[in-house]
Amino acid sequence: MLENIPRMLPSHLGASIDATKFNIPPIFAWIKRVSNVSDDEMLRTFNCGIGFVMIVANENVRTVLKHLNGENASVIGSVVNRASKQVTVDYFCTSIERVQKTLLIRKKRVAVLISGNGTNLQSLIEASRDTNMGLGADIVLVISNKPGAYGLQRAKTFDIATRVVEHANYPDREEFDQALTDELEAHEIDIICLAGFMRIMSASFVKRWKGKLLNIHPSLLPKFKGMNAQRQALESGDDETGCSVHFVDENVDTGAIILQEIVPIYKTDTEITLQLRLLKSEHIAYAKALRYVATERVKLSDDWQVTWH
Ligand code: GRF
Repeated sequence: MLENIPRMLPSHLGASIDATKFNIPPIFAWIKRVSNVSDDEMLRTFNCGIGFVMIVANENVRTVLKHLNGENASVIGSVVNRASKQVTVDYFCTSIERVQKTLLIRKKRVAVLISGNGTNLQSLIEASRDTNMGLGADIVLVISNKPGAYGLQRAKTFDIATRVVEHANYPDREEFDQALTDELEAHEIDIICLAGFMRIMSASFVKRWKGKLLNIHPSLLPKFKGMNAQRQALESGDDETGCSVHFVDENVDTGAIILQEIVPIYKTDTEITLQLRLLKSEHIAYAKALRYVATERVKLSDDWQVTWH
């Protein structure tokens, strides 16, 4: 990072990078711990998780990010007038210490609730098993309200426990949700990810799991809430949409937003092409949001706001 970035900068300019804006893979935290290499040397020698750097004019940032859909791109810093060092990386020490800490604490036990295909489920499982991700979470349970949901097969391929809790077998939402809570408690679940779970949760369920219940929605909330978000986006005539990961509150798609990813809409798009493009960004966004919550970087405050730690 310290020696490659200057190759694309004129000598009077520098780069100011913020290490809280990217994920440092645990391997680098481990290298630092066992070798006690200085921060400067770590940054000189390793990419510390950054595989590709682009310098983009401010006014083009949104467009570039949108077209890098699915590439896990984010803004990690800015070009500045050169200080004595040409590249500075702020918060590297605290960021790498945070990763070191997550290597030592117990991983959160996560349940994913589905009703259908389960591509988000699969990407969460793969992220949780990817040692570069440092997700701090294991997917230990998958619950479907539909016995035929394909996501159940996906879970089984990964040897993850599955349960079917059919809503039709319960007289009302309260009792259905209680059956879910019973399963979740029996599996000592810390965090629940709704991933295409087509039921609205009751107020008591939302209260029981406050701050531990996440959902993903294929739009830039508060736009296009509810069903058919892709169709709503196409009909709006907008040239971009996106996805949102949020904590669940008592209403549908209104909870505090943890993060969003933007996706372009093309004139030639159909609901299917847009849905596929959105899913790519959903898969990246959901894993990232789960990492934030599982490693306690993001929490939900008593008054239902997202707080960063
Ligand atoms: C996704 O678009 C998600 O945002 C929405 O339901 C869909 C589930 O897709 N809540 P999959 O089952 O994860 O493929």
